[in-house]
Amino acid sequence: MTQDSGAAIKLTIEDGVAVITVDNPPVNAISQAVRQGLVDAIKTVAADSSIQAAVIRGAGKVFIAGADVREFGKPPVEPFLPDVIAAIEACDKPVCAAIHGVALGGGFEIALGCHFRVMDAKARVGFPEVNLGLIPGAGGTQRLPRLCGVEKAADLVTSGRQVAAKEALEIGLVDAIAADGDLLSAAKTLGLSKAGAPLPRISEMTVPAAAADFFTTEKTRVTRAARGQHSPLRALEAVEAAATLPFAEGMKRERAIFQELRSSDQAKALRHVFFAERAVSKVPGLEDAKARKLDTLAVIGGGTMGAGIAVACLRAGYPVTMIEADDAALERGRANVDKNLEGFVSRGRLSNEAKAEHMARLSGSLDYNALKDTDLVIEAVFEDMGVKKIVFGKLDAAMKPGAVLATNTSYLDIDEIAAATKRPGDVIGLHFFSPAFVMRLLEIVRPAKTTDDVVVTGFALAQKLGKVAVLSGVCDGFIGNRILAKMRKQADYMIEDGALPWDVDKAVEAFGLPMGPFRVMDLAGLDIAWAQRKRTAATRDPAERYVDIADKVCEEGWFGQKTGRGWYVYEAGKPSPNTDVEKIILAESARKGITRRAIDVQEIQNRILYAMINEGARIVDEKIAARPLDVDMVEIFGYGFPRWRGGPLCTADIIGLPKVLDDIRALEKADPLFWKPSALLERLVADGKTFSDLNQ
Ligand code: 3HC
Ligand code: NAI
Repeated sequence: MTQDSGAAIKLTIEDGVAVITVDNPPVNAISQAVRQGLVDAIKTVAADSSIQAAVIRGAGKVFIAGADVREFGKPPVEPFLPDVIAAIEACDKPVCAAIHGVALGGGFEIALGCHFRVMDAKARVGFPEVNLGLIPGAGGTQRLPRLCGVEKAADLVTSGRQVAAKEALEIGLVDAIAADGDLLSAAKTLGLSKAGAPLPRISEMTVPAAAADFFTTEKTRVTRAARGQHSPLRALEAVEAAATLPFAEGMKRERAIFQELRSSDQAKALRHVFFAERAVSKVPGLEDAKARKLDTLAVIGGGTMGAGIAVACLRAGYPVTMIEADDAALERGRANVDKNLEGFVSRGRLSNEAKAEHMARLSGSLDYNALKDTDLVIEAVFEDMGVKKIVFGKLDAAMKPGAVLATNTSYLDIDEIAAATKRPGDVIGLHFFSPAFVMRLLEIVRPAKTTDDVVVTGFALAQKLGKVAVLSGVCDGFIGNRILAKMRKQADYMIEDGALPWDVDKAVEAFGLPMGPFRVMDLAGLDIAWAQRKRTAATRDPAERYVDIADKVCEEGWFGQKTGRGWYVYEAGKPSPNTDVEKIILAESARKGITRRAIDVQEIQNRILYAMINEGARIVDEKIAARPLDVDMVEIFGYGFPRWRGGPLCTADIIGLPKVLDDIRALEKADPLFWKPSALLERLVADGKTFSDLNQ
């Protein structure tokens, strides 16, 4: 017999077992049709005397990926998921979940409503709701502690981490792991074997007691780890309700928290990130382009970036050739790669054998002919146009037709680099962030003549390396460093106007960035930016405000962490404010005739944020970024902008663009050159639109 409830749920009866298949591509998200279909199927199971047990499974590549995230912005529609799960659990015939792929969020909650769970060896289960600014909202926080205790439950719901089959079995989340290819029949057999026996219902179990101070210490830990994000602590609150209240009361508490969070700004921002992360690689206009062959890679230069990029490529399984200027530099480059890989070994993330296998895939040469069969090369030599042009001339001569020639330049004009070859269509920017084997962002920078298939080859490489790639046009600093420059300028202005570096850092960190701008400068080394300022001094706009404080700090030989002194003084690696810097700052304000004034946290945060928003809007308006979401992804994955704020342009939408524009206009009165509002921002406000409208 086959019952087809909508298209989303299919029910077949095989050997007395009802096989209920959730079929809602691509990931069986729990839409209204799925919820209704499950309720109908369970009614059939109860009513049909030929059915002795039921199995719930998913069609396609996963069991069920959770509630349909697309429905979250809209009013909830019946039947509600907690009621669907209650109906499954109340069924008086055994219901067994057959989990393959993933059972996440509401999907795992459905599995916990079943009486039994069998899992494929490669499957994973978990509650990723916190990553969407939510908590499990259909009994997950109430059933999980009853099954595996509050400690494990608190870990899983507050972290959102996914659990592999072996651990799931060990901590009691599932009853069995099926042999390869045997999942459905194992679930059917288990279900049938329990027909007529008393059924375990998790809601009827008691929660094992936790240590007396568990929730107090856990709250401190979770708050610290969440860095301003609300959902993890709220998830813990729901687990605490499971430990202190009867099941029905706990369910009410969980639902109330879920509903409250669902409409919160953080949930909106995190939903934006969820979809933006997936949309960012789908660039409008590139749908038909095909990536070129990508089997062998090379880097030119084995310094910080060249070696880092080599490690990222070796970790992804590629053979990598490194070209350096001389034997000693090549030896250093190899040693840099070795040291980076050793870092993975010492953290237990790579075995010694695997490291040796990685190193065996790295070959080095001084001769560009070693690249004649290479598919894609990434140049990471000194940031000097003359040197880069010579290197690209050599690459042009040595590489096969169809190879992709990429540069990792931070600021240089890639059109000019491309013009040093006879194949500008094959040249592209692949701007990695340091350390290249850690940072998720890759800016793919597209000069005028680059062909579409070269651009999508960049995206294909990013995917292989596990990176989030964002397409950028050519401009000074591309998307990320261009915004960074504006934000740093505001930081400089503020210390001359009255704040101190540690005030700025503290305010920026309280906003949610991992490190304030002055701490970041100390970490990167002040000398690099100093050299850049000296190089560009002659071409600087004389009308623009220039703050000399950083130059004076460098003149003292204080280059940051590496010299033990910069904006901060470092003792045993710990920073404390450099009081001598404070003297320089006060003297500079006095020299410029500036009466220093108190700048409060809110003003610091606004000036940093609005500088980012205004420049981000200009970048979109100039089509350097295709959409506002591209700017948001750069800031989140390259600069640590808090995910739960959704990126600067999502934050602007949440504040409300009319207010953002008013605030910028107020700042403009004191500094018209810096704060000229972006024309796009003005147009959006005039039309009553948002940045989000431009993402659609
Ligand atoms: N709702 C709606 N759409 C979803 C979805 C969901 N829960 N999960 C994935 N999708 C969509 C994606 O947007 C994507 O759409 P696109 O092709 O149009 O871009 C498509 O499904 C495929 O997704 P991925 O590209 O991510 O595919 P992968 O194979 O890489 O990963 C996955 C599959 C592991 C299931 C991953 O998509 C994932 O982690 N999904 C989110 C799971 C999640 O957060 N679940 C919790 C939801 S909240 C909840 O359940 C609340 C409950 O407690 C009441
Ligand atoms: P680095 O100074 O650490 O390394 C440069 C390497 O290039 C040196 O090992 C040098 O021997 C080698 N080299 C110089 N000329 C060469 C030539 N003609 N042929 C072969 N090798 C040559 O510099 P780093 O920091 O690795 O920067 C490299 C590039 O990456 C620059 O363009 C820089 O702007 C960019 N970049 C740097 C980032 C960073 O955080 N350091 C971040 C993103 C991009």
